[in-house]
Amino acid sequence: MTEVIAILDFGSQYTQVIARRIRECQVYSKVLPYNIPAEELKKQNLKGIILSGGPSSVLSENSPRPDAEIFNLGVPMLGVCYGLQVMGLMLGGAVEKSTHREYGHGILKFETNKTLFKNLNSPLRVWNSHGDRLSKMPKGFQSIASTENSEYAAIEDINRHFYALQFHPEVAHSQGGLSIIKNFLFEICGCKADWSMAQIIPDAIKKIQDTVGKAHVILGLSGGVDSSVVAALIQRAIGDQLTCIFIDNGLLRKGENEEVQELFGNHFHMDLRVINAKKRFLSALVDVEDPEEKRKIIGGLFIDCFDDSVHKIEQVEFLAQGTIYPDIIESMPIAGSPTSVIKSHHNVGGLPERMKLKLLEPIKELFKDEVRMLGKELGLPDNLLLRHPFPGPGLAVRVIGEVKEEYLEILRDADAILIEELRNGSHYDDVWQAFCVFLPIRTVGVKGDERTHDYTIAVRVVQSEDAMTADWARLPYDLLQKVSSRIVNEVHGVGRVVYDITSKPPGTIEWE
Ligand code: XMP
Repeated sequence: MTEVIAILDFGSQYTQVIARRIRECQVYSKVLPYNIPAEELKKQNLKGIILSGGPSSVLSENSPRPDAEIFNLGVPMLGVCYGLQVMGLMLGGAVEKSTHREYGHGILKFETNKTLFKNLNSPLRVWNSHGDRLSKMPKGFQSIASTENSEYAAIEDINRHFYALQFHPEVAHSQGGLSIIKNFLFEICGCKADWSMAQIIPDAIKKIQDTVGKAHVILGLSGGVDSSVVAALIQRAIGDQLTCIFIDNGLLRKGENEEVQELFGNHFHMDLRVINAKKRFLSALVDVEDPEEKRKIIGGLFIDCFDDSVHKIEQVEFLAQGTIYPDIIESMPIAGSPTSVIKSHHNVGGLPERMKLKLLEPIKELFKDEVRMLGKELGLPDNLLLRHPFPGPGLAVRVIGEVKEEYLEILRDADAILIEELRNGSHYDDVWQAFCVFLPIRTVGVKGDERTHDYTIAVRVVQSEDAMTADWARLPYDLLQKVSSRIVNEVHGVGRVVYDITSKPPGTIEWE
């Protein structure tokens, strides 16, 4: 039986980050409701329990509490932030309101010979975010670390293997945080590092089967990573109870429609309905120049098209979405409530309410790189899994001003050349995004003996970690030269190619 670390979720925005850190250590972790009965936990091969942080105050009425029996299960425990306070209070210590909220970095000084801090040197900069503080430790505990504001920044009960931290070891800006987690997993819980993403599949499949039963599920395929992985996963679980809808809005990249049909229709044999809605989208965009207006029209039409095609499928009960963890709203504002508020996916926002469908979001706890790993296990090709992000409104926001079929064709051809050259030079995987932008600006040029008056293509290639900030990629001049000469020579209607050297901020990645 797989070894499990149970993370009881008190609602912190970092709970999934703890789960991810543990998965990185090749140990299986499950995020469970904070009040799960101890009896339920006993049914698993439980190696340890982590009590997560949370937005509530243990001092307030109705603050969330775990089943008291979990302290008698005989497994190691680690409380984090709220988890420390709830553990402290329930085991007989005291918690008081802090005079000032400790938020941000703190300097942690600790006893280096303690198991939790094995291989770490004091002091460490750690990340705090809490209001209350432990003022009296429960019986059996001792303090093993302190910060300026708290003499009980880390505590342990060595006999019962109970540990607790006032700070968040899981966040990237806590120094040594991953080592502390590893010490808990391997030194204290005795876990083996023998778990991999592949093992998430049977659990995920069972969960989908249990949720869906015999009902029918629909999924809007976008051609991107997240919806593709969800499609492959759900198909494994329920086969032809899944129907995928792919809307060709005429704003896709070159060959995209065909690639989706080849992979999901021919290769995976899915029930794939391709909706040709090019005319509908392009005629709605005539004379529209404002980018936000374009987005609104495209988003609305997407929902209409999707709705129309779903009505043709019988007994649909679920709408599957490729929501991933970063799509989930960062905080959980309702104190005491274990359910976080879900942000609707930007491409299909508003659909479930309108269509009265239940949502199925089987990868909502995964981070992007984990989604890619899962996709690989499910047999999706690398060129899809490692594809750059592509905006929902597609090429409409890469044709500056009014969108016309003529412009889209030019843009598609130019973009395909850029991508081909980046792949040939092995630069594609090193950059965050690379694309062309069509500028409806004619400039003068010469081709042969003739004077030309053709359009302009801007090439945008950026490096980024998360799209919040970005810098233009320092591509080799020879590569840029090749891209430029191929676009001007091969794409009819283009007379000039420019390279965008604006960073974000102050620029944005897209031009509209
Ligand atoms: P910006 O242009 O804001 O882009 O620097 C940041 C990231 O978001 C993508 N992007 C969009 N994605 N719908 C989307 O689904 C949109 O309307 C949209 N606008 C920008 C952009 O490609 C980049 O990855």
